[in-house]
Amino acid sequence: MKLSKRLLSLAKYVEYEDHVADIGCDHALLDIYLINNNIVPHILISDVNENALNAGISNIKRFNLTDRIDTLLAFGLEKITSDIDTLIISGMGASTICKILDDSRLLQIHKLIIQSNNDHFTIRKFLTTRNFYISEEEFIEDNNKPYINIIFMKGNASYSMRELKYGPIFINSHNNNYFDYLIRVKNNILNKIPKSKVIVRFKINKELKLLNKLKKK
Ligand SMILES: C[S@@+](CC[C@H](N)C(=O)[O-])C[C@H]1O[C@@H](n2cnc3c(N)ncnc32)[C@H](O)[C@@H]1O
Repeated sequence: MKLSKRLLSLAKYVEYEDHVADIGCDHALLDIYLINNNIVPHILISDVNENALNAGISNIKRFNLTDRIDTLLAFGLEKITSDIDTLIISGMGASTICKILDDSRLLQIHKLIIQSNNDHFTIRKFLTTRNFYISEEEFIEDNNKPYINIIFMKGNASYSMRELKYGPIFINSHNNNYFDYLIRVKNNILNKIPKSKVIVRFKINKELKLLNKLKKK
């Protein structure tokens, strides 16, 4: 089974001792990879959509892994067992992810491996005000689509608005790939804005200046 670059990039954050639940597992391809490569001995997967979960279950059966992967039809964390301490949530938007995490069971979680489709500011803000800090950030492109992985660990840290928006690790490590991507996006937007929209153009140009400053020289 060949895993996409996007899903493969998540696997390295999982450690053998982690008690993992993959929320919104769909096809369960990442989970099958984690078990087949002995990255974890056991995993819990769940999806709110019966058809999506069934796709996962039939893949699990195909790989004879029904004794190593438990499946749940559930909304978010609602049925996770009390041993779970690590969550993988990928391929969803920030508002769905925050809805899933707005649950008292978040208290039992020590590590979150998140790959959101959008609005990383909201996720960083949500989790860092709930006793998590950001331990790693990664920017990847797969099939010309950008993806961001953020790893949150239990613990406290305070972050500026700039760090919440652009990522404390991206900023501290001057992640040129990420900032070059943002600069491309902003330039594309700027090119579509008429010259008469002076204030909008001014704001974008200001952000472009900042993004260029955040890059490693
Ligand atoms: C686009 S798929 C992503 C699948 C996989 N995680 C990945 O990254 O390829 C999103 C999945 O999340 C599920 N989902 C959406 N909201 C959910 C929720 N509140 N609880 C559990 N699963 C959810 C959807 O049913 C869908 O199967």
